Amino acid sequence: MKSPLIVALDYADPGAARAMAALLDPSQCRVKVGKELFTAAGPLLVEQLQDQGFEVFLDLKFHDIPQTVAKACQAAARLGVWMLNVHASGGKSMLEAAREAVDASGHRPLLIGVTVLTSLDAAALMQIGVSDPVAVQVERLAALSTAAGLDGLVCSAREAPQLKAAHPDLCLVTPGIRPPEHIADDQKRTMTPAAALAAGADYLVIGRPITAAADPAQAFSAMLAACAG
Ligand code: C5P
Repeated sequence: MKSPLIVALDYADPGAARAMAALLDPSQCRVKVGKELFTAAGPLLVEQLQDQGFEVFLDLKFHDIPQTVAKACQAAARLGVWMLNVHASGGKSMLEAAREAVDASGHRPLLIGVTVLTSLDAAALMQIGVSDPVAVQVERLAALSTAAGLDGLVCSAREAPQLKAAHPDLCLVTPGIRPPEHIADDQKRTMTPAAALAAGADYLVIGRPITAAADPAQAFSAMLAACAG
């Protein structure tokens, strides 16, 4: 059975992304193509990964006027990706336009909303005019995503229990995952795979613990085992 692992192929060099993918088994995990790799390598690399059997999370976090986002989502759906995402702060009309565009596509990827980037704290939110605490803004954007019919949210595993309780139909995609032996490095912001799954995460996005490991294949196997407990 496929694991909840999504390996982030965060490379500027398509050759490095292909080499990493060659170490992974598409029956055991999915892969994420983000802004760096997509800007460098484009849709061709996404197609090549899919041809190898990988389901691809296209992490481009669209945020624009509704028409533009709808067209971008349509293009992503045509590309055949498994999951794509948009910024929930783009507003209700933008989210609804994204939903309609994906629904109208022959292939229907999971449409995921980004709430508050984990790089933003209360002070940073204040600078852009949001005076509510981060958790309140996350819940506001989660409710907007639910109302617009999105399939899930990107969130920190720390937010997963509350979001899962309030929005049980949304799937939760969580970055900030670290292997058990590394968890003490940054205990506040990270979680082990087992803890994140127990908190309500459905998919775990993992980059450097695998891609920057001395032995990525071994690190991937250890992560798979860690998902099992
Ligand atoms: O930290 P790591 O290399 O595991 O990150 C994997 C992916 O998770 C990155 O591609 C990044 O886009 C995403 N990420 C995130 N929020 C964080 C940390 C990482 O969205 N706080």
